[in-house]
Amino acid sequence: MAADQAASLAKHASQSGERVGLTADRITVHGGKPLQGRIRVRGAKNLATKAMVAALLGETPSVLQDVPLISDVDIVTRMLEAYGVAVSSPDDGTLVLDPQNVEKAHFAKIDALAGSSRIPILFCGPLLHRLGEALIPDLGGCRIGDRPIDFHMDALRAFGAIVDKSYEGITITAPDGLHGAHIELPYPSVGATEQVLLTAVRAEGVTELKNAAIEPEILDLIAILQKMGAIIWVEPNRTIFIEGVERLEGYTHRAISDRNETASWASAALATGGDIFVENAKQPELLTFLNVFRKVGGAFDVAEDGIRFYHPGGALKAVQVETDVHPGFMTDWQQPLIIALTQAEGVSTVHETVYENRFGFTDALLDMGADIVVHKDGLESVTRRVPRRRLEQAAVITGPTPLHGADVRVPDLRGGFSYLIAALAADGTSTISNLGLISRGYEHIIDKLTALGADFELD
Ligand code: EPZ
Repeated sequence: MAADQAASLAKHASQSGERVGLTADRITVHGGKPLQGRIRVRGAKNLATKAMVAALLGETPSVLQDVPLISDVDIVTRMLEAYGVAVSSPDDGTLVLDPQNVEKAHFAKIDALAGSSRIPILFCGPLLHRLGEALIPDLGGCRIGDRPIDFHMDALRAFGAIVDKSYEGITITAPDGLHGAHIELPYPSVGATEQVLLTAVRAEGVTELKNAAIEPEILDLIAILQKMGAIIWVEPNRTIFIEGVERLEGYTHRAISDRNETASWASAALATGGDIFVENAKQPELLTFLNVFRKVGGAFDVAEDGIRFYHPGGALKAVQVETDVHPGFMTDWQQPLIIALTQAEGVSTVHETVYENRFGFTDALLDMGADIVVHKDGLESVTRRVPRRRLEQAAVITGPTPLHGADVRVPDLRGGFSYLIAALAADGTSTISNLGLISRGYEHIIDKLTALGADFELD
């Protein structure tokens, strides 16, 4: 590690008064160097936070292992503590969650925390079971569309809850308790599926959930609930049946690894012509990503303890990608991959079918020399397999285009990571501000960049 980087890291470490996240808000990156080295990815952001909420349903303490130190986890920790859950961390990556003294929280505390996350919406079911009511302020989360919660509210009403909207947010009560329901989701929403699971496990009777999401993080949450005493059937047609039970106990569980972070580093290896071993990466959860990675011209080796992603030399090739629900190509993978596609020979098209506004990050890439055209109403394509959705958009990327440094500001989590990749791949120097947003979902990002030989300073 260069002396100035060691000093920069030490400076950063000395400022790390916060429990997680970055204190520096801007990074200056000197691009053009391949990323090479070994990093470890821990538990999935989009599982760990939900598993923490699930602990509220247990009558005894739960233990969650391999938890990443990211601000989304920190926010949920503070929310649980506001409701009287005792949260402790006996060692790095392990959380002990004791829900035996759950009590009503001061709304102001919850309101102060909810603005930067979508997870508070998942407290509804557990709080209704424990306290008979839930107050949900306006939600935060990445600005990649208007992120409605109608599926969640409709599901809670189906269980017998009463949803009242007020100027503060949403008050939900269940004076007659919660009973099993027949719910069919208009779209296999991850959050709405989790909402139903976390409510149905303690509801009276059986719940049938049609058109459910079955992402690996959902199946890991189901495994956690089953450990707690729940009875949950996942049918081949993505219908889930949940038999409500009287009592759930705490769980001990190691979170599945973060496939979205793994895919981000793989795209970074490709875009910078590098070679990155991602420890704890799991092939089964990344099958579709690995197919696309190989078609673009990337190479990977699957080992017992992780996956090596590298650029084997030669030209990268343009591809056609359609984002979809699991086991399709995840919407969270397209932003980092697009940086590699700017270096591929030919015209690539990415059809974003999950969110209606997830290409906003491409504007800044044009300032770095990329050639990307966003079609706000999507594009017809003869080769696609994913059913066209009203809200979808398409990005057409023409390459290869040499990238040069620029000053950019992180817009959202995955877009922010793609700016890091672009700055590392570009010739010259870039500054990236609003860096803290990246630590919402990427643990120890500075340490990892340093371990991979990136050339940068924190401002
Ligand atoms: C989860 O968001 C993830 N976040 C997202 O990851 C991920 O992109 C998304 O699932 C899709 O896989 C977390 O798990 C914290 P959805 P979620 O409900 O649950 C519409 C990241 O980068 N919809 O599956 O909010 C919605 O607008 C983040 O880690 C409704 O219309 O996503 C979207 O178009 C970004 N009404 C589609 O469904 C609703 O009530 C999919 O959303 C709910 C959703």
